[in-house]
Amino acid sequence: MNRIEPTPKRLTPDLIGRFKAIVGEKYAVTDPHDIAAYVTEERMLYHGHSQLVLRPGSTPEVSAICKLANETQTPLVPQGGNTGLVGGQTPHHGEVVVSLRRMDRVRDLDPQSNTMTCESGMVLLNAQKHASEADRLFPLSLGAEGSCTIGGNLSTNAGGNTALAYGVARDLVIGLEVVLADGRVLNALSKLKKDNTGYNLHNLFIGAEGTLGIITAAVLKLFPKPRAVETAFIGLKSPKDALALLGVARAEASGAVTSFELVPEIVIEFCVRHGSGIRDPMPTRHPWYVLMELTSPAASLSETMETILSRGMEEGLVEDAVIATSLQHRRSFWDLRDFVTHSQKPEGGSIKHDVSVPVASVPEFLDKASAAVVRFMPGARVVPFGHLGDGNIHFNISQPIGADKEAFLGSWRAMNDVVHGVVAEFGGSISAEHGIGYMKRDELAHVKDPVALQLMRQLKATLDPNGILNPGKVV
Ligand code: FAD
Ligand code: MLT
Ligand code: ZN
Repeated sequence: MNRIEPTPKRLTPDLIGRFKAIVGEKYAVTDPHDIAAYVTEERMLYHGHSQLVLRPGSTPEVSAICKLANETQTPLVPQGGNTGLVGGQTPHHGEVVVSLRRMDRVRDLDPQSNTMTCESGMVLLNAQKHASEADRLFPLSLGAEGSCTIGGNLSTNAGGNTALAYGVARDLVIGLEVVLADGRVLNALSKLKKDNTGYNLHNLFIGAEGTLGIITAAVLKLFPKPRAVETAFIGLKSPKDALALLGVARAEASGAVTSFELVPEIVIEFCVRHGSGIRDPMPTRHPWYVLMELTSPAASLSETMETILSRGMEEGLVEDAVIATSLQHRRSFWDLRDFVTHSQKPEGGSIKHDVSVPVASVPEFLDKASAAVVRFMPGARVVPFGHLGDGNIHFNISQPIGADKEAFLGSWRAMNDVVHGVVAEFGGSISAEHGIGYMKRDELAHVKDPVALQLMRQLKATLDPNGILNPGKVV
């Protein structure tokens, strides 16, 4: 099915003036030089364009923007931290960008109810800090946390490094404030743990990637702050051994296993080669590694960590392990993990996958998908890493050494078909946590259940009849 692209709309000076009047001159960006930062993204895969970026400071301003856009059929692209990895936040057709970054206030922090109501432009790291200052934990954690925003996290239903213990973004929210395409404001900022009064409306907007409404605030769940944290980098022979070690860890530490990240040796090579200040976390190289973190609000975990690792060694699962001896040491482990996405760039073209399969199938999936890729393109370097604990693997492929980067990237869809074909054999997903955005919209139409697609399109037509919210994304 070839893509039906939205028709670009040239804004008249009068219309630009009307939008500017809503946010004020200072918060309307029209200089192409300043607009550049909003229309290119992390991986430089997409170069969008826009005549106007609006930076509203309040929900009423967002409401007025949507009302005017709806009346004048002006397409909008909501944007938070611009760290999305599927082109969902990029104005591919000259849309007006609505940047929520200015709206970053805490509206309410209620440690007794374990909730924090914050605005959608709040950077995730700051949400974590506000929770910590109230002696609580907001557990969502991902490599982009220094710039991604709560609104973007909810809109992409972000996963990250702690999903195996705390779930994904959707599991961490109990209420939302959303501005609809016609400017109406849905106030569902409930702090109630139980509230069975009709349809679960706020959940419609989580994972909708800005196509059904603009999230302006959220009631986040808070958790007890960890008192004990133990982190280890572990060398192993295979993903099969890593999976068995996960079983041992869960048997010994149950819910205290909060991160279990799988990393192949080639990633250590890339990170040490390209990351300034990134050192090999272990004295010798291993075929595979796990970065495991245990946390608990109550007990100390050092004995538990020792037990897991000695059982792992006795059962031949663990070749070696290094336990972090300080906060700085632990941070160095996570600095390496957070650098992984950047470490692939200097190696040339990298074709990305964000897939999930049942946790138990990960080792077999990795074997089959790796064999399929090398058959399809001899010399291609398979770089699979990620959240083994929840079955989400970033099965990225770096170009063969010496290959032409553009020609390699030109095989993106064909390579996707090879990898996603194996994913389908395991009943997996073509998008575990990054969303569909612009990148996977066509493919979604082929793989998603037809009735589900129809419902999604009916919902889109009902909530955004003029198609002004993030057109060309998701559906
Ligand atoms: P943006 O990129 O600004 O927007 C993303 C989508 O949300 C777009 O469709 C946009 O239209 C929509 N949107 C943004 N704000 C709103 C709003 N207020 N209302 C409605 N729609 C909105 N993702 C993971 O899930 N797990 C990871 O581990 C992970 N690691 C990453 C590591 C790196 C180094 C990088 C660069 C990215 C990573 N990501 C990861 C991807 C990205 O950080 C997430 O998708 C994140 O949730 C995007 O947040 P953002 O604020 O940057 O959103
Ligand atoms: C990560 O887990 O590092 C990201 O989701 C994957 C990526 O950035 O490629
Ligand atoms: Zn990830």
